[in-house]
Amino acid sequence: GLPTRVRIHEVGARDGLQNEKTAVPTEVKAEFIRRLRAAGLTTIEATSFVHPKWVPQLADAEELFPQVSDVDAELPVLVPNQRGLDRALALGARRIAVFASATESFAKANLNRTVDESLAVFEPVVRQAKDAGAHVRGYVSMCFGDPWEGEVPLPQVVRVCAALKDMGCDELSLGDTIGVATPSQVRALLTLLNEAGLPTAELGVHFHDTYGQALANTYAALQHGVTTVDASAGGLGGCPYAKSATGNLATEDLVWMLRGLGIETGVDLEALTATSVWMAGHLGRPSASRTVRALGPT
Ligand code: HMG
Ligand code: MG
Repeated sequence: GLPTRVRIHEVGARDGLQNEKTAVPTEVKAEFIRRLRAAGLTTIEATSFVHPKWVPQLADAEELFPQVSDVDAELPVLVPNQRGLDRALALGARRIAVFASATESFAKANLNRTVDESLAVFEPVVRQAKDAGAHVRGYVSMCFGDPWEGEVPLPQVVRVCAALKDMGCDELSLGDTIGVATPSQVRALLTLLNEAGLPTAELGVHFHDTYGQALANTYAALQHGVTTVDASAGGLGGCPYAKSATGNLATEDLVWMLRGLGIETGVDLEALTATSVWMAGHLGRPSASRTVRALGPT
């Protein structure tokens, strides 16, 4: 059966804005996060403490984070290494996320490391974050397909997931970075992860919508018992180091489906749509979300 409640992990301010061509002013990002909270979202990924040359769009993390730390929500931030963790903890971050790859090609492109080198970097980072009392999410990218390597063998994904779990990650997020997965792959991976000792309660899903499959894949995950779903307001998003990645599952499209299914999210769809329309105004183009286009002013 389906869950009665889903926790939406909102990634618009991070995954969404990391891929924008134009630099969004820090004040606008802060206002975006406040509006997302006001719309009922309670887990709002705020930014990344990555190298500013690698992701210039998020180079203002030090300015932004203190501007939103009073927001009454969980505000996870991405950290790629020790330096990122130090920067995040110095500002009082209480939720961090490391990000691994199931494939060598993307580990190299995104982290300049092999898969095992990046896991070795994460190990002390996760331990120190846990020691500091932080909650730790472990992302795994390219869980289903990779732009350089094609379809990704699921045991390869399970190995990286198990390594992150062994390090002490509190939850994992299974990334379809380039949005190629279909529901049977989602079911197969979740089943394999359960068999490897990873409980569904610790697994979230992170679908990009490149091929229009994100909502179908989410439904398959819900049927499996997943209750943590990543989404991005207005369908913003994409990884600059993964060619052919487009936006995430739009939070509004997700909420529309969940509301129809009678699954609680705590999100006010009208307030969220208004937020996405407001953000689209700042970005200078209409939202990719079908629901925003249907409900919002044109
Ligand atoms: P590197 O060039 O190998 O870095 O990059 P390094 O370790 O050799 O260090 C070089 C210099 O960078 C040093 O400075 C470091 O201090 C500095 P120097 O001593 O030469 O003056 N440095 C840093 N400065 C600030 N903050 C840091 C940091 N780290 C090193 N954290 C690195 C390696 C990991 C840093 C780089 O590859 C990087 O920043 N990558 C981030 C890429 C990224 O953010 N991608 C998008 C997020 S992942 C994603 O979107 C997928 C996801 O959504 C899930 C999905 O969809 O699948 C999560
Ligand atoms: Mg992503």
